[in-house]
Amino acid sequence: MGESPFKASILKGKVALLTGGGSGIGFEISTQFGLHGASVAIMGRRNSVVDSAVQSLRSQGIPAVGFGGDVRNQEDAKRVVESTVKHFGKLDILVNAAAGNFLVSPEDLSPNGFRTVMDIDSVGTFTMCHTALNYLKKGGPGRTDDDTGGLILNISATLHYTASWYQIHVSAAKAAVDAITRNLALEWGTDYDIRVNGIAPGPISDTPGMRKLGPDEIESKRTKELMPLFKLGEKSDIAFAALYLASNAGNYVNGTTLIVDGGLWLSRPRHMAKDEVKMISRLVEKRTRAAPSSKL
Ligand code: COA
Repeated sequence: MGESPFKASILKGKVALLTGGGSGIGFEISTQFGLHGASVAIMGRRNSVVDSAVQSLRSQGIPAVGFGGDVRNQEDAKRVVESTVKHFGKLDILVNAAAGNFLVSPEDLSPNGFRTVMDIDSVGTFTMCHTALNYLKKGGPGRTDDDTGGLILNISATLHYTASWYQIHVSAAKAAVDAITRNLALEWGTDYDIRVNGIAPGPISDTPGMRKLGPDEIESKRTKELMPLFKLGEKSDIAFAALYLASNAGNYVNGTTLIVDGGLWLSRPRHMAKDEVKMISRLVEKRTRAAPSSKL
């Protein structure tokens, strides 16, 4: 993992609540936020995961608390947001990192399977934002007159920029997440001084997502060669992007989903070797000029 390029105090005094903050990318963001001055609340469905994440944060000197809960349940959302404010006195940053994922072809995916991922990723994200609004808005409970409004950070993906095999449910869900990011940025930025942004990670090593979505294929040398930067991302790459957006450095960034994928979503296989192109490029130009199409 890379060493942080940021000052350790950039989130000093901030309180962050992270759904799915106990494992994978969510836990790395929890840790980096804590190491840069924030107090951290984690929400997750599995108590054992939440408990061990909180212990790990506390052992690094980070003020941390954990709450069991499912983002699909409105009562859980309300209880966790209110418990976070009760514990730390306010809420500055909400990170929606909870997500569901599995590989399946559309014909084998039941409508309920599709709905399950929409419920976790899209409806869950909106539910958490909606529930946290009262505390994130400028002048909300626990905020001083000097405080700006808070920040929402939605973890997205790049699957839906084009199309992705066996990921119709997640593509649809993350497209909705990006729409939520933009619409809330517009409306809540204007009305409540809340910035709303997203991060779209590419393949990040050592995460539950990567273990689920094809470890062998993606880790293989051949696949890496197809990637513009020839490597997978690290969890810290995502956490540092989150730190940028959450800190004052990101003060004027609102409604953006920052792609952190090494350029992968842009990439296409190289159909012709570079040396071949060098050899024939001018030749083809000359030939085309010498024999213009009679149709023109
Ligand atoms: N393939 C096809 N359908 C699947 C599936 C799979 N691998 N896993 C679940 N489903 C379907 C179920 O069949 C069910 O539909 P049905 O009632 O029509 O049969 C529906 O999804 C709900 O399944 P259920 O097991 O009740 O959902 P859950 O709420 O317990 O689990 C998941 C949610 C399925 C998203 C689960 O994978 C999960 O919670 N993952 C969280 C962690 C994660 O994915 N992290 C990686 C993030 S990148």
